[in-house]
Amino acid sequence: MSIEEKIKALNDKKSKLKLGGGRSKIDQQHAQGSLTARERIEALVDKDSFQEIGIFARHRCTNFGMAGKELPAEGVVTGAGSVGGRMVHLASQDFTVAGGSAGEVHSDKIVQAMLGSLKTGTPFVFMNDSGGARIQEGIDSLAGYGKVFYHNVMLSGVVPQISLICGPCAGGAAYSPALTDFIIQTAKARMFITGPSVIKEATGEEISAEELGGPLSQMNHSGVAHFVAENDLVALRICKKLLSYLPSNNIEDPPQLESDDVIVPDKTLNSIVPSEQKKAYDVRNVITRLIDGGDFLEVQPLFAANIVVGFGRILGRSVGIVANQPSVLAGALDINASDKGARFVRFCNAFNIPLVTLVDVPGFLPGVQQEKGGIIRHGAKMLFAYAAATVPKITVIMRKAYGGAFLAMCGKELETDRVFAWPSAEIAVMGPQGAVNVIFRNEIAQAEDPKKKRDELIASYQGTFATPYAAAARRDVDDIIEPADTRRHLAMTLDILSTKREFRPMKKHGLIPL
Ligand code: HXC
Repeated sequence: MSIEEKIKALNDKKSKLKLGGGRSKIDQQHAQGSLTARERIEALVDKDSFQEIGIFARHRCTNFGMAGKELPAEGVVTGAGSVGGRMVHLASQDFTVAGGSAGEVHSDKIVQAMLGSLKTGTPFVFMNDSGGARIQEGIDSLAGYGKVFYHNVMLSGVVPQISLICGPCAGGAAYSPALTDFIIQTAKARMFITGPSVIKEATGEEISAEELGGPLSQMNHSGVAHFVAENDLVALRICKKLLSYLPSNNIEDPPQLESDDVIVPDKTLNSIVPSEQKKAYDVRNVITRLIDGGDFLEVQPLFAANIVVGFGRILGRSVGIVANQPSVLAGALDINASDKGARFVRFCNAFNIPLVTLVDVPGFLPGVQQEKGGIIRHGAKMLFAYAAATVPKITVIMRKAYGGAFLAMCGKELETDRVFAWPSAEIAVMGPQGAVNVIFRNEIAQAEDPKKKRDELIASYQGTFATPYAAAARRDVDDIIEPADTRRHLAMTLDILSTKREFRPMKKHGLIPL
């Protein structure tokens, strides 16, 4: 064969392999409103930047009619490409090839891409669309998943890992995304460990696949998903935006964008927090006024909505924002909010993203369910995560900061670099009503007019503690600032702290309460 013939044969072979499971399977994928594995990559990476590796890989299985059966690219497209000019490694499962099922070689290809991430300090993006472990390969496919899980853990905290769930993701396969930093789930994707039929057999419960593993279930109820997208293209847009806030690895700083955003006092902030102590407001209206262009990428918006977490920029610098949400459960910290907040804090700390914490918290949520559910160990995660974090930590107390929750929202004693308070801040062991009931029980009971006496005592308590001045005198608050000026103070502090280095004693690892 001449070289020209060999090149033609090569090109023909590659074109055929790139068709995956073939035209009719691709049409089925499109008919369901999904992109193919290759189309997803194309939509994610910069034009012509993708280098594929392992397109000729072949499985070694001979069971159940598999001998000699070609599964193009082994059902997963892997390689590297740039996103917004920065390199990422990626794997995209091809549902048109044996349902994207993961055999030994399929998983080895994913691991090779993960090692590419690890060696080059670049993020790993895994687009899941698979029937799970390839049944015909038995233990080999389980072992393949085991290697993927192991490498997920090796990459954790070294490079950002993002999972897109674009189709089925069932059984143990769901544990790879769960070991990554962020999960973006599309509307048609389903994630579960045991599907509806197994559940029906085991417990008698009946539920549809959508109700069990659809994006709303995995976002609102379980908190497994971090973002929900109508379709693949929206999921890929979220992925790109998320990457734009992040450094490529744990020893880089996040990218700093040129910013022509100016800092002008925003007088609307002066009246955004209602003067009535119990009146609710949406803290997202505060967040968007503090960050460049009001552009906030909220993480897990529908899970534990009593705490808001997400990314923004202040004069081009990435920041992670954690804020109590007074319009949900009065912003109290409960089990789910603590899990959500603590995990986000740990992600930001791992990837050198400064933390801005906005506080309006009446305390930890009281209740039998909360206590029996372990609010002690879950709430402790907030303390652990903030105390362990060495990135710049800036806290703004807007209104209530009561009790343990005052500390758990990045209080000064957790080596927080700056604590600002607005004049509306109230910092105390507990709210005035509860406090006077405890410390003045006898005085109230013995008073001629107990209600009048109680009101007087509440007013006296508020005058003493329900202001930021006592805390500022003790230097638990570094400065009391006009709300309108908050963005300027945050920008200045981020600048001052941009060279922050904080060293901790060497240890294998701490033990975050789980
Ligand atoms: C081998 C598989 C497969 C699998 C699907 N296929 N899943 N092949 N191993 N796990 C193949 C099908 O035989 C079919 O091949 C093609 O993929 C498309 O599948 P369909 O069933 O036709 O598609 P659809 O109707 O869309 O249903 C998709 C599905 C269903 C819901 C994913 O295929 C399914 O339930 N698959 C099994 C899921 C599962 O139980 N997996 C094991 C999970 S446990 P042809 O040749 O007809 O095109 C697990 C353990 C991991 O993953 C453990 C790690 C520790």
